This record gives sequence, structure tokens and C-alpha cells, in this order.
Amino acid sequence: MIVNIKLPNNTSYDITIDTLKELSYERKVVIVTNPTVSGFHLDYLMNKIKASELSVVTIPDGEQYKHMQTIESILEHCFEHRLNRKSLLIAFGGGVIGDMTGFAASIYQRGIDFVQVPTTLLSQVDASVGGKTGVNNKFGKNLVGAFHQPIAVNIDPYFLTTLPKREFGAGIAEIVKMAVTFNKEFFEWLENNDLNDDENIKIAIAKSVETKAWVVSQDEKENGIRAALNYGHTFGHVIENETNYDTYLHGEAVGIGMVMANNLAVRIGYMSEDEAQRVKQLLEKYDIPTTYSIKDVEDFYEHFFLDKKSLDNKIKFIVPKSIGDCEITSAISKQDVIATLKDFK
Ligand SMILES: NC(=O)c1ccc[n+]([C@@H]2O[C@H](COP(=O)([O-])OP(=O)(O)OC[C@H]3O[C@@H](n4cnc5c(N)ncnc54)[C@H](O)[C@@H]3O)[C@@H](O)[C@H]2O)c1
Ligand SMILES: [Zn+2]
Repeated sequence: MIVNIKLPNNTSYDITIDTLKELSYERKVVIVTNPTVSGFHLDYLMNKIKASELSVVTIPDGEQYKHMQTIESILEHCFEHRLNRKSLLIAFGGGVIGDMTGFAASIYQRGIDFVQVPTTLLSQVDASVGGKTGVNNKFGKNLVGAFHQPIAVNIDPYFLTTLPKREFGAGIAEIVKMAVTFNKEFFEWLENNDLNDDENIKIAIAKSVETKAWVVSQDEKENGIRAALNYGHTFGHVIENETNYDTYLHGEAVGIGMVMANNLAVRIGYMSEDEAQRVKQLLEKYDIPTTYSIKDVEDFYEHFFLDKKSLDNKIKFIVPKSIGDCEITSAISKQDVIATLKDFK
């Protein structure tokens, strides 16, 4: 299945969800990957690529390496292999590899092409689409980066066969996010179908990608509705931060965050309690955590202001009005937010 994403500047690219076909390029190509992904799948990918010259740069695995020094090492590889402005990078891994490869491509000789071959569920349904690239620094996550769209995204669900169960759940949390924010029908389909089934996961990836492509085509640079994809993230980022990024996977923190956002939505008279329960049940079906114990409510609240999305000192909350329809607002009273946080003590 192919989803085409159209951007405001009249460019577009295809997102293909299928067994990887032969990829043929008449230019120098560098695959960027890590030892985990290459151990499982590099041969599979190499067998499908034809290029005038092909090399691989392997960077260490982990979010803790998502920083400028790693970008520098990718660039060095590119210079050593004499890549020119026509050359191409291929991001082969999860969201960490995708974000870094995209960023390296955006600055190498002022910008070269790159292709996404995402291998985690989270990167297949979310991170590989939409052109946000970047790295972390000591001030926070993804604070340095660029919008740089890939020229193609090739999603092969086969890669998921080696993905640990928790990572799979983390990806499902982002799928649920797409459905709750924008697509009621998809949410109902998710309630009635098992994503452990090979055909179903393909459908779910395609639906999520379709949703994300539609959102990004409306608002590439996140001046408006793209921010709705941060549903669950306002709370989730604080949870990740409070637990030093070593307790929950990002998608798991987002799972808890969505439950918190729903609590707030119910409180202010938006989504019904019954709908909030349905979201929670769907997450729990895949063992995604939905509970969290906040130690200090005021402290948790203060953490919101450290997030880059609130640099102007306003916290943006994404609250569902109902399943499939949400609102982005900075007009929720501190009192309501604190009341919600107290429900998670
Ligand atoms: N650009 C965006 O729009 C966007 C959106 C969401 C998330 N992100 C970013 O994505 C990152 C998270 O991505 P992620 O969840 O994919 O994490 P990840 O890239 O760290 O991958 C998770 C783990 O799975 C391993 N892995 C990857 N593919 C595998 C496979 N097929 N089999 C077995 N193991 C495999 C990885 O090596 C890693 O250890 C974060 O840095 C986040 O900021 C970006
Ligand atoms: Zn996310």
C-alpha cells in the first residue's frame, strides 16, 4: 500500500507499506544504522539496494547517543566517502536513527536527500513521516534540529518480527494517539481487531501513516493542528523526565499521558467518562502502562514549563472533545490541571 504525502511547497513523497522492493540509485548511498538493527537485518536491506557506491556507518544504539557528536561522526563518514550533493543517506533503524540521519542529511553540504527505512513500530507509524529531524542536548530533547523531509519512506512490517514486545506496545500507543485525535472509525476498528495479527498490523500502520500524512500536509511546521499529535505528550514528557528516561519507553509514557489528558478532558466537560475508559482499555489490551504515581503534584506541574512547547510560558494541552476529535488549548485553569494530577497521586 502506498500513501502519498503532499506538502505546501508542492513537493510530495511516497510512503510504501509493503515487503521491501529493490531500491535502485545511480548515486553514492550511505546506510546509517546501529549494531542492533544491523545484526538482525542489514543483510536483508543490502540485498535489496543497488547503488553506484554503497557504504554503512554504524553508530551506537540508544537515545543517549542522540547528540551532536554522533551527527559529527555520520558527517565524517560522508566526507571520507566523498559524498557529494547528489548523494543519499538511508536511515535504517528506529526513531533515533531516523531523526539523526535526517538531521545529518539536512546539513551535509547544506542538505542532501535521505530515505527512511524505519524498523520499530513507533518509527513506522510516526517518527519516519513528516520531516522532523534533530538531536537532544543538555537543555532537553529534540531541541536542535531541522525540518527536512525524506524523499521516500519504505515501511516493511517484516522488521517488526524481531522487535521486543515492550517496543511494540510503545508503537501501539502512538497508533492509539492518531486514532483518538483524528479518526473515530479507526479507533473502533482498533477496538475490534488484534494488532498481533500480521495483516492487521499492516492496516494499522497504513491508517496511522495516512492520518499523520494528512496532518503534516495541512501544517508541516506545526503552527496549528500538527500540535494535536502531542496528545499525551505534555504529560508524558514530564513522566519521562521525572523518571530519568530509564523507567518508561517514550510510547509507554505517552500511554500514561493520554490517560491523564483524558482525565482532564472529562473534568472540563469534553470527552465522556465512558470514552476515556475505552481508550484506557485499548491501551491495556497491549500491556501499555496506564497508571502512574505522582509524588509531588506542584513539582509535576512546574515541570510542564521546562518543555520546549511551553517556551512562551503557556502550557498547551491536547484534550479530546470525543474520540476522533480533539482541541489544542492553553486556556485550562491551573486548578483543573492540579485536580487531574491529584487523581494520579
Ligand atoms: N521525528 C518525529 O516526528 C518523531 C516522532 C516520534 C518520535 N521521534 C523520536 O524517535 C525516537 C524513538 O524512536 P523508537 O521508539 O523507534 O526508539 P529507538 O530508535 O531507540 O529504537 C528502540 C530500540 O529498538 C531497537 N530496534 C530497532 N529496530 C529493531 C528491530 N526491527 N528489531 C529489534 N530491535 C530493533 C533499537 O536499536 C533500539 O534499541 C525518539 O528519539 C523520539 O524523539 C521522532
Ligand atoms: Zn511520541
